[in-house]
Amino acid sequence: MSVAPCTELEEEVVALDVPATNERNLLVSRRRFLQSAGVLSAATVVGLPETAVGQAAPGAPVDRAIVLKVNGKAHPLTLDTRTSLLDALREHLDLTGSKKGCDHGQCGACTVLVDGRRVNSCLMLAFAAEGTQITTIEGLAKVPEPTTVADLHPVQAAFLEHDGYQCGYCTSGQICSAVAVLEEHKRGTLSIVSFKSGHTTNPVLTDDEIRERMAGNICRCGAYPNIVAAVRAAAKGVSA
Ligand code: FES
Ligand code: FES
Repeated sequence: MSVAPCTELEEEVVALDVPATNERNLLVSRRRFLQSAGVLSAATVVGLPETAVGQAAPGAPVDRAIVLKVNGKAHPLTLDTRTSLLDALREHLDLTGSKKGCDHGQCGACTVLVDGRRVNSCLMLAFAAEGTQITTIEGLAKVPEPTTVADLHPVQAAFLEHDGYQCGYCTSGQICSAVAVLEEHKRGTLSIVSFKSGHTTNPVLTDDEIRERMAGNICRCGAYPNIVAAVRAAAKGVSA
């Protein structure tokens, strides 16, 4: 009596014209055994423990507890370990002042300060920022809810006075970056312009120096002349 094939393996065996007898069943069983043995030996070759076979693929989401200190406040969170600092700020802490422009470290719209140093928060994992002091545009002013220009950080006030923006999308990144530029300059950090101009000791923050040091922050509106004027004014300690 002929037996209808019910799996691909059995179809294969039928195609080999093996009679529907115990012999065919043996052949199917042998094929099944070899197939599963192949899976196991492949796992052994790539160094996976046998218990990993059938489990979630590497790179699957893993949530972990984290505390981020942002603008002087500790925020306990549970995050996917792959979350960028930018996404943690924007999506989990509702601090949307830092902008996502390229998400690839190319535009500077996401610039924040981490222990006083400027970073592209789209390129930093939130977990890498644990234990640091993070400052965003929301935490720069002298008071939590500024109502006058005098309440602002001097660099914020300078941008306001000098119209250092048009649409404003890049502005929070520009301002955070400028704050760090002034600190870097105070510390005597040099740029390529310092070397080219031969001023390698306490270089003056010329417009060329400002342009070079702010080069990581792109403004698609092209507000660069006013941005440079704002940074220049803030460096002189005046906002107008
Ligand atoms: S969004 Fe981070 S550099 Fe563009
Ligand atoms: S002000 Fe529009 S991108 Fe800079």
